Amino acid sequence: MVRNKFYVTTPIYYPNDIPHIGHAYTTLAADVLARWNRLLGREVFFLTGTDEHGKKIEKAAVEKEKSPKEFVDELILKFKEAWEKLNVNYDKFIRTTDKEHEEVVKEILQKVYDAGDIYLGDYEGYYCTGCEAYYTEKDLIQEKGKNLCPIHKKEVELLKEKSYFFKLSKYANLLLEFYEKNPDFILPKKKRVEIINRVKEGLKDLSISRTSFDWGIRLPFDKEHICYVWFDALFNYYSATQENSKKKYWPAEVHLIGKDIIWFHTVYWPAFLMSAGIELPKKVFAHGWWTFDKEKISKSRGKVINVDELISIAGVDSARYFLMRETPFGDDGDFSEKALIDRHNNELADKLGNLVSRVAGLIEKNGIEKKSGVFVLKFEKIAKVKELFDGFEFDKVLNEIFEFIDKCNEYIQGKKPWETGDKKVLYEVADAIKTITILLWPFIPETCEKIAKQFNFEIDYKEIEKPLKIGKIKKGEILFKKL
Ligand code: ME8
Ligand code: MG
Repeated sequence: MVRNKFYVTTPIYYPNDIPHIGHAYTTLAADVLARWNRLLGREVFFLTGTDEHGKKIEKAAVEKEKSPKEFVDELILKFKEAWEKLNVNYDKFIRTTDKEHEEVVKEILQKVYDAGDIYLGDYEGYYCTGCEAYYTEKDLIQEKGKNLCPIHKKEVELLKEKSYFFKLSKYANLLLEFYEKNPDFILPKKKRVEIINRVKEGLKDLSISRTSFDWGIRLPFDKEHICYVWFDALFNYYSATQENSKKKYWPAEVHLIGKDIIWFHTVYWPAFLMSAGIELPKKVFAHGWWTFDKEKISKSRGKVINVDELISIAGVDSARYFLMRETPFGDDGDFSEKALIDRHNNELADKLGNLVSRVAGLIEKNGIEKKSGVFVLKFEKIAKVKELFDGFEFDKVLNEIFEFIDKCNEYIQGKKPWETGDKKVLYEVADAIKTITILLWPFIPETCEKIAKQFNFEIDYKEIEKPLKIGKIKKGEILFKKL
């Protein structure tokens, strides 16, 4: 194991449509964590990608009269474009249609089969293609004689076919032991309790192959069968690390996911890994759900905001800031344009933007003189910020930093350097701006890089402890124009 490495993942999204704010949310959180860990000098591996096999994708392709591969090839460009626009700096974009990934999945299927954890049987039950998940009758909503998926509210299929099963039932107790020994595996804590209670009710074996469609990985021991898309998809996190230079990254420090897919990640995934004899990831964090003007995000009802729309409201950094600041990471959040604009105006423009432009302007006019000794404006919460990052409390990290920004603004207000021309006061605030900028960089990198250039320092964690070097400081452009 390599010390000081940090491997973070997002779900691999279904490329059946362009990415929206929900996909952006998880991906941005992963980017913030990756940047924070890079700042601390860790060796970071940040993985995202797309989940391209299965009935859901095949169906979407058929509707567009395209082959599944043609169909996804176009859509993955939209994902890559969206992440680039949002300034998401991932290390690898995996596609489940990548040859290397398919080979790893086949090897593992064979291994799990040889270990006796896969057997042939008959599956009879319900399936929702929207979820790519199996349901029992008691999970479904019964309406007008129809069985509806509890998530999509669309009619589920009744399947009756030969299928290979994974012996999930065998792993119930092992999973419970594992959760017990690793209290941070399922986060946030309230979700952990729910999962443990459900697993305690017992687990049924899981159907992991289908014969009624083609678009997927064929089982190496029976070519008639296509691998269940979730077995294929989950292994992306592992297969991405199987090229030589990446092996050191496994196991992942954290899989970031939405709460919709927590069962797959905290029950199926560790059970598959146990069966394959692979070390388990450290943490799975399931964040909350965004609604749009208090309604479920839904394309058909026009309640959706895609990445371009998100950015067009107040710019990239304001969008990044808003999503991380608005709600605690484990809680649900409601998106509204007004709430985003309010934060852009009141926090980014009035507090941060104002501080930076005021101080730079005053220095341009009065000059700056190095101060030593005790600083009044010292940020005392570094240890707290680290702890909050470790607990995925992004909103609170921002809160701490913005409280310090308030303090800086109050300090200038009190010292009135525009009257006194006190160059040492200006030095002290400029030094505080350095700390603020370095700590905010994971959230709003573009803005912070501009400030760093303006004040002549490097975005490097070690710079926080060093006194600001004196250089030429000019007023510069307005960072956040009020809307
Ligand atoms: O589930 N609020 O892909 P998917 C918050 N391919 N997050 C949201 C969201 C919302 N309204 N909507 C989507 C799949 N998300 C599988 C994953 S992983 C091995 C396979 C985010 O395209 C959130 O991260 O349906 C959620 O878990 C994910 O998108 C689901 O993306
Ligand atoms: Mg989904």
